Amino acid sequence: MTEKYPFSKGLAGVPAAETVLSFINGQEGKLYYLGIPIEEWAEHSTFEEVALALLLRRLPKKDEMKMFNAALRSARELPPEVIDFILDLPPDTHPMAALRTVVSLLEAYDYDAKLEDLEAKFRISVRLIAKFPTIVAYFDRARKGLELIPPDPTLGHAANFLYMLKGERPSDYEARVMDIALILHADHGMNASTFTAMVIASTLSDMYSAITGGVAALKGPLHGGANERVLKMLKEIGSPENAEKYILDKLAKKERIMGFGHRVYKAYDPRARILKKFAEELTKRSEFYQTAVKVEEIMIREKGAKGIFPNVDFYSGLVYNALGIDTDLFTPIFAIARVAGWTAHVLEYLEDNRIFRPRAIYKGEIDKKYIPIDER
Ligand code: CMC
Repeated sequence: MTEKYPFSKGLAGVPAAETVLSFINGQEGKLYYLGIPIEEWAEHSTFEEVALALLLRRLPKKDEMKMFNAALRSARELPPEVIDFILDLPPDTHPMAALRTVVSLLEAYDYDAKLEDLEAKFRISVRLIAKFPTIVAYFDRARKGLELIPPDPTLGHAANFLYMLKGERPSDYEARVMDIALILHADHGMNASTFTAMVIASTLSDMYSAITGGVAALKGPLHGGANERVLKMLKEIGSPENAEKYILDKLAKKERIMGFGHRVYKAYDPRARILKKFAEELTKRSEFYQTAVKVEEIMIREKGAKGIFPNVDFYSGLVYNALGIDTDLFTPIFAIARVAGWTAHVLEYLEDNRIFRPRAIYKGEIDKKYIPIDER
């Protein structure tokens, strides 16, 4: 009470850690992984390479990539007990709740979880990155009463995910679009879910607990859950002509338009720009796509001056929808990518750990008298 601390609601603008993993230049709408612009990663790299680069904090060499690819492929399958658990989950469980629960359960089947050294945590990170797509695809097929499709070790990370989900091999183009979507979502500075994972890890809890927390934080509509809601909104709007009234009504009621705004970006999110191009190609400029473009136009006209532009979640849903993926899997796909960033940040932070322990500003009274319950 007597001490004075600087206070920023929602920790806005407060640095919580140092990192070399990613950097957002919010004023100019730029994103870098390891100093390399996101556009270059999207053009030249694969999700697997991005994931290993983040874990190693440098560009991997050829033999390291080979070993990592082999490790990922051999770790994709889930323990039989975990598969039984997925098959028993109520079909109306939200896929993010299923993912969160299964990640937590996996700890029980991994001996490394009991070890505290960073090498064990690195091995768990690789396993988690490998298993996320399998959890999501198995749960989706289980809830639909479809036969589970085991991972195909001849396919890359993105292609294998689409294969396990749909039971047929994707085209090279579809696989590449998914791969790029995963690249774009792999890391993003000190976002809420990364911070959550790091706070948990900083208590020297284990990797599974930290990543379970990351999934839980990503689930919310102000974070990863926005992509699912964008598609719901576009469906409600129906066509470009309805967009003006719909958006202005919402803004007049001070409601938030999902897929817009960002704590750090005050310019166009570079990931949204890349995804917009794929949305245009995949939907062949469908009415759905044109509705989204109209919403963007209205929002920039109304809110651009305040620094509110489309974020990564605005066009990703259109891309996944065009790939034939159910709306409630959009946030789990975000998690399939972001687990690379979560694990990399946790490993980086643990090298020089200090428990996260901020303060709260006490607004109550002090030295009050305790009143027995009968006298209240
Ligand atoms: N629609 C309408 N107005 C908005 C929006 C929006 N999407 N976002 C921010 N604003 C307004 C807000 O009403 C406020 O106005 P005023 O100053 O008049 O009160 C001003 O902009 C600042 O907003 P804020 O809530 O202080 O900003 P924040 O940094 O705390 O929140 C945000 C950032 C992403 C939570 C917010 O922009 C939002 O709710 N967006 C919609 C949800 C969304 O798309 N989330 C995905 C974020 S990107 C991917 C990810 O992180 O997962």
